Amino acid sequence: MITAHLTIDPHFTVGPVNRRLFGAFVEHLGRCVYDGIYEPGHPSADGAGFRGDVIDLVRELGVSTIRYPGGNFVSGYRWEDGVGPRGERPRRLDLAWHSTETNEIGLNEFVDWARIVGSEVMYAVNLGTRGIQEALDVLEYANIPSGTRLSDARIAHGSAEPHDIRMWCLGNEMDGPWQLGHGTALEYGQLASKTARAMRQVDPDLEFVACGSSGAQMPTFGEWERIVLEQTYDDVDYISCHAYYEPKDGDYESFLASAVDMDRFIDDVVATADHVKAVRHSDKTIDISFDEWNIWYQSRYNDVEKITDPREWPVAPRLLEDAYSVIDAVVFGNLLISLLRHADRVTSASLAQLVNVIAPIMTEPGGQAWRQTTFFPFAITSELARGAALELKLDVATYPTAEYGDVPLVDAVATHDEDGRRTAVFAVNRSLTEEATLTIDSTTLGGLTVTSAVTLSDDDIHAANTLEDPERVAPRHNTSARRDGDAVVITLPPVSWTAISLE
Ligand code: AHR
Repeated sequence: MITAHLTIDPHFTVGPVNRRLFGAFVEHLGRCVYDGIYEPGHPSADGAGFRGDVIDLVRELGVSTIRYPGGNFVSGYRWEDGVGPRGERPRRLDLAWHSTETNEIGLNEFVDWARIVGSEVMYAVNLGTRGIQEALDVLEYANIPSGTRLSDARIAHGSAEPHDIRMWCLGNEMDGPWQLGHGTALEYGQLASKTARAMRQVDPDLEFVACGSSGAQMPTFGEWERIVLEQTYDDVDYISCHAYYEPKDGDYESFLASAVDMDRFIDDVVATADHVKAVRHSDKTIDISFDEWNIWYQSRYNDVEKITDPREWPVAPRLLEDAYSVIDAVVFGNLLISLLRHADRVTSASLAQLVNVIAPIMTEPGGQAWRQTTFFPFAITSELARGAALELKLDVATYPTAEYGDVPLVDAVATHDEDGRRTAVFAVNRSLTEEATLTIDSTTLGGLTVTSAVTLSDDDIHAANTLEDPERVAPRHNTSARRDGDAVVITLPPVSWTAISLE
């Protein structure tokens, strides 16, 4: 039996929990847009062809911001292909995913859909095959109320009101050799700086995200961030981080500790950004936009799914449709714990992606939509994590991992909402075999009452929700939670994620 002791004090905060931490990502990739959010003819579709069942699930998920339209896709995208009369929109090759883009959905439709689901749009410009002028054009089209060629075109296309997009990504993963237009950090940094400065001449209050590394494993990691930020420091607000995790060779001990890697990644990027700050004697601080994170069975994509036949350019193929298991959801919930733990510097994040493509929501054409296992930790954390993330003292034993050395058997984070007088604790038990008893102690808060406790776990850690069995896995009330004096004690099953709401 593992024992873990957590001490919380609402006086010691990491930083406010920014709602933008609960963002997601919609890319023109596979069936994320087509057959995902958009399927005219589906029984639940509205007049614009958006699936009503997907809209309901996205609302339930509690998504604050949505990054769009890519991803690798954006680095070859011409935004103007996706506006204007549908019949006149061109079909194009999407080189990133070896697919055909029909352009049935573009900027205006996506903004309409984001409004329906109640999310803010975070728009990525193409700095792969395009540059400053196209970024200025899409900004004018999207945000200028009227009276110019492009803003009037938007109005003529049926969007009378400006979209008022505040957050802009300056390209995508420009450090990756797979990216169209990939170059050196210096080349990218100079272009990103010029683009942001030009766009700020239109609107000085826009927020910009410069591309960081597409993963901490990249050979240029660290140097890429330093050089890009040296070029862009005064022009941008965020540097991006991307990270995907999957078990390697059945090493579940290391997989369960993936959040340790995310913690180190964030700490390294913060250190690099602050180094540039120091060298520049700047009083401005750059935050992190962790705008792609998830579990992704990339090995399956590379070995099985990748389309390489030069004659094959399918429309909305089934790509990256990973079915997530219980253990995936536990690691996923732990990644959210890592993001919250860094709430002072990670002030925006996007789960990659939202529907069908490495997604919490799956759909069948003409059929049902269902929640993957990862849906639950996201929805519950988005609902409960309010106020400020707290500094914690967690005492627990460690276990050895091949990838990350000795890591704690239990990981946790807490948030406290002063106004609502509500505290939430999110915890994972990483042990493959043993239960853990977690004691939550807070003398400052006095006697705590458990208002709810839910746990995601299963005897079969590989169980998943599928088309055939869409409700196989769901979180259950954790009935072990009880008061013990001023503390709360709860049992965490092996390989489990738990959310506890306290008053
Ligand atoms: O989310 C899938 C892909 O992962 C994105 O297109 C790209 O940015 C990243 O490599």
